[in-house]
Amino acid sequence: MEERKLKQLLSEMSLREKIGQMIQLTGIYFDEDAVLTGAVGEGQPPQWVIRYAGSVLGMIGAEKLRAIQKKYMKEHPHHIPLLFMADVIHGCRTIAPIPLGQACSFHPELVEKMAGHAAAESAAEGIKATFSPMMDVSRDPRWGRIMESFGEDPFLSGVMGTVMLRGYQKGNGNGQKGSREIPESGIAGCLKHFAGYGAVNAGREYNDVEISQRTFREQYLKPFRMAMHADPAMVMTAFNAVDRRPVSGNKELLEDILRKEMGFRGTVISDWGSVGQLEEQNVVSGQAEAADAAVHAGVDIDMMSPAYMFHLEELVEEGHVPVSLIDRSAWNVLVMKNRLGLFEDPFAGMEGEEQLSAEAKKIALALACESSVLLKNADLLPLKPEQKVFWAGPYVESTELLSRWAIFGRHDDVETISEVLRDRKLPVRFVPGCEILTEEERRLWQADNCRIQGEEEQNKEMSGSCGDQYADLEEIGPEDTVVLVLGEHEAQSGEAASRAFLDLPEGQQKFFDAVAERTSHIVAVIMSGRPLDIRKIAEKSQAVLLAWRPGTMGAEAVVRLVYGEETPSGKLSVSIPWGVGQVPVSYWDVKTGHRMTETNPENRFTSRYMDIPNEPLYPFGFGLSYTGFTITPPVLEKQEREDKIGILCKVKNVGEVPGAEVVQCYVETLCAPVVRPAKELIRFRKVFLQPGEEQKVKFTIDRKELAFYGADMELIDGGIPLRITVGNSSRAEAGDVSLQLDRRS
Ligand code: NOJ
Repeated sequence: MEERKLKQLLSEMSLREKIGQMIQLTGIYFDEDAVLTGAVGEGQPPQWVIRYAGSVLGMIGAEKLRAIQKKYMKEHPHHIPLLFMADVIHGCRTIAPIPLGQACSFHPELVEKMAGHAAAESAAEGIKATFSPMMDVSRDPRWGRIMESFGEDPFLSGVMGTVMLRGYQKGNGNGQKGSREIPESGIAGCLKHFAGYGAVNAGREYNDVEISQRTFREQYLKPFRMAMHADPAMVMTAFNAVDRRPVSGNKELLEDILRKEMGFRGTVISDWGSVGQLEEQNVVSGQAEAADAAVHAGVDIDMMSPAYMFHLEELVEEGHVPVSLIDRSAWNVLVMKNRLGLFEDPFAGMEGEEQLSAEAKKIALALACESSVLLKNADLLPLKPEQKVFWAGPYVESTELLSRWAIFGRHDDVETISEVLRDRKLPVRFVPGCEILTEEERRLWQADNCRIQGEEEQNKEMSGSCGDQYADLEEIGPEDTVVLVLGEHEAQSGEAASRAFLDLPEGQQKFFDAVAERTSHIVAVIMSGRPLDIRKIAEKSQAVLLAWRPGTMGAEAVVRLVYGEETPSGKLSVSIPWGVGQVPVSYWDVKTGHRMTETNPENRFTSRYMDIPNEPLYPFGFGLSYTGFTITPPVLEKQEREDKIGILCKVKNVGEVPGAEVVQCYVETLCAPVVRPAKELIRFRKVFLQPGEEQKVKFTIDRKELAFYGADMELIDGGIPLRITVGNSSRAEAGDVSLQLDRRS
């Protein structure tokens, strides 16, 4: 619709209609099958709200949504279409690895393509907006939502978030027509949670955040800033406060930083109930004040809180909230609907559900392979197909390879590892050994109250599947090779799944120990939504492959990697801690005094733990391959423009099989007026090479990207000595160059 017409429409809408655009309801008010992703209060929304609410979350299905849309539009005075939103986090029907895993691929093009397929599958079933990507830098594995993040690094999170967003908003390239900004197969993306949520204190869900302004801006805002280039349709406010001021009532953050400084021009949506929650946080005395604070701060849509639906109308009528604010927010929502082409055709592209497409499965498989990280390999992998191998552990025969956030994913679409192996007719024996969780753990994790389709049946199948668990182990001798597929349950990560301990479920650890008593030729494959404390597993295994939660094609990926049909190329997007006492730990931790170095390990007065190392077990950027690579030390290349820095190196495959290396470029400030991170990732490139092949890698860095905040929060981008390194992990350096940029006045 032309802008002029849209303005005309807004001018004709009643106050209630406009406020309606600013309210989002869960689908349960429209259909009992809707997926509930938050707690619903007791108060039923007023009838007019159900009639005018501009958007709904948590529903899928072309036929169903078509019917709801038809009825809604007919009853709406201006026939404005509803916008269906949902949490499509790592795939809609075809489920890719969790975002934390996708980031380990260091392969932005694949991530973008997968998001395009997720968008196309969503759009075909009526969902036109997703609450993804999550841009929260997360370095605390206790936080269950780390799975939804791109890990600990701000730059990697910025790159991955940008491409994922672009993928959603571009779709899969089919069905584009007319001048709509977001094509038919595309959907609106939403950067969340603005901001700082990844730093929740002690990793506890919904907790507050305590970080400095500097860290907040440099590390936590950076990914959001980077993704603004892809023109996000929405940004979601975080539950937490920043500097004790809750985001959903924080004008400085939403107006001054998000809109003015970062140039965001889309719609701001609250998180579920986060406007109403201002009362719980005791910064307002009731829901009316909460609505007042949020609308003044710039929250355009209140997702599922009582504030706007019960109070906004009165606040306007009594003159507390100017109509201009309502107009602005309603306008933002209308513009988003218009970008999606809803006014031209609210049903465009709603073709209904199809079989998972071969193309989407292919990308999901490639991502599952490239997301998996080989953490250890003492010459055991890849296994030979003719070798007799025991495949053991509860994940061998399980379809639970999705996640809590794969809300529309179906376990029925997942092949199990045992099925994949059987298809290949390999000489393998299966030893499930134990269940994923013990009865008690199932209760603790509420693993049976599942919202995920198909899981209930799965649970029924699982329980009682183990009789005398260890009986089969007697067949395993000291020379035998066992691939043990272990890990967290789906219910143990995602929203509201914080953990204080990062161990494997109890029964699985015991089972592992029992196997380890029989043979040392163990390949541990770990399925998990977060970094776990796998030290004891790694010590007793000859090889460790971290597959995260790999998605629909996970089983095929694991088998391919274990037998060397694919060469592992994933690199950690987040450090794997040595133990839970270290967390949060990341490679960019800021420098300290009393530094422990290689030359003073006996010095008691250094910044360290007396009982465990400072370093994580496996650092950010780390990951092994079946082939070998060399990277030459970097050299500076003269640039024509003085605001650019050129860094050159070469990477060579010196092994025997094709593979990919991720060349990583880090920068360290050597002397600055404020304490700075040890180093920061500034560029990376994934290079695919045949044996013996060599390639040049050139990184061009913009001077602006090196800027940081000085003592008075002024931006410094020169006059500072820098060290730039390249290597294949945050720990391994192939060499460095030093430079100093001119000071700019
Ligand atoms: C709460 C979560 O924090 C958010 O990420 C999600 O999008 C909403 N619920 C909607 O399900």
